[in-house]
Amino acid sequence: MSLTLTTAGESHGPALVAVVTGLPAGLVLDRDAIDADLARRQQGYGRSPRQRIEQDRVEVLAGLRHGRTLGTPLALVVANRDHANWAWGMSPWPPEGEPSGKGTKPVTLPRPGHADLAGALKYGLDDVRDALERASARHTAAIVAAGAVAKALLAAIEVEVEGAVVDEEALQARVDEARAARDTVGGVVEVRAGGIPPGLGSYATREDRLDGRVAAAVMATQAVKGVEIGDGFALASSRGSDAHDEIEDGFVRGTNRAGGIEAGVSNGEEIVVRAAMKPLPTLMQPLGSVDLQTGEPGQALVERSDVAAVEALAVVAEAVIAFELARAAREKFGGDALGDFVGAWRAYLDRIPWRRTR
Ligand SMILES: Cc1cc2nc3c(=O)[nH]c(=O)nc-3n(C[C@H](O)[C@H](O)[C@H](O)COP(=O)(O)O)c2cc1C
Repeated sequence: MSLTLTTAGESHGPALVAVVTGLPAGLVLDRDAIDADLARRQQGYGRSPRQRIEQDRVEVLAGLRHGRTLGTPLALVVANRDHANWAWGMSPWPPEGEPSGKGTKPVTLPRPGHADLAGALKYGLDDVRDALERASARHTAAIVAAGAVAKALLAAIEVEVEGAVVDEEALQARVDEARAARDTVGGVVEVRAGGIPPGLGSYATREDRLDGRVAAAVMATQAVKGVEIGDGFALASSRGSDAHDEIEDGFVRGTNRAGGIEAGVSNGEEIVVRAAMKPLPTLMQPLGSVDLQTGEPGQALVERSDVAAVEALAVVAEAVIAFELARAAREKFGGDALGDFVGAWRAYLDRIPWRRTR
């Protein structure tokens, strides 16, 4: 039994869509909990006024009845409230009437650091908007909705996942400085997953190894340029005697330098993942670019944008890691009904001699 996620949607189109398959039947979903995560994604120091326009809410089109999953594909929708201002420019069908609102003029000056140039070349686009709309991190609203569902599933086996900014105070000062200079900043986030039983993932292949799966999910998030698990890069310069976690009574560890994963398999300790986010690439003082139509040098498109979205990334990283852990847990414990899944987890914990520490 595997959990899958498919998303669709453009930044200023009618909506973002997430379809989740492989959930057991009987999982209770709380609409407010999903909306609370959507709201967390929109908050944070350095976000733009767009976040005030949107106020995301989840809608469910399929897979849920009276708040319980049916074991069938779950279809989640997050409407783009801002679409009202882009109704002509982002109309899925040939628009009727005179051009009005936003997005009516083709974008021909690609922004460095975005999908704009690569997307326009790859797909043969005359209007860069056809690339940037799907590439936009607005997509992460769909990811966060699906991640909230994954967290509900993980809660049934007493796993908790939480993301946060590393050094929040320093970030605020850096945002203030960057805002004054009309610039942008990035930062570092950390996600911790507690209560993970030993034995999720497997040893050898990219598809099996939990470290590879978790790292790939985080790395595939917009603006992430580096990922480490546990002590990560610092381990490269430490001695073997200082780099590993000795096994103690109850098969637990006194240290957690491995970040909860050894040989691609969870070892029962907290899973700790960090991600480095680059400074946001849309700048109010735009970088140099070249016009795709004329070949003339110019300045990249300026579109309303955040100074920083590091707190939002913490929520998104939490969501993608929750989804990967839920997927690994579905593979290990299976079951069509939630009770089967939880029962298999309990039976497994009864079999192994590991002493749970949290
Ligand atoms: C939650 C979140 C919000 C973001 N908001 C913005 C933004 O307002 N302006 C911007 O230029 N980039 C923003 N980005 C980053 C771009 O989406 C990203 O850099 C771009 O799509 C290129 O992808 P890459 O950085 O992975 O190469 C955001 C990223 C995340 C994760």
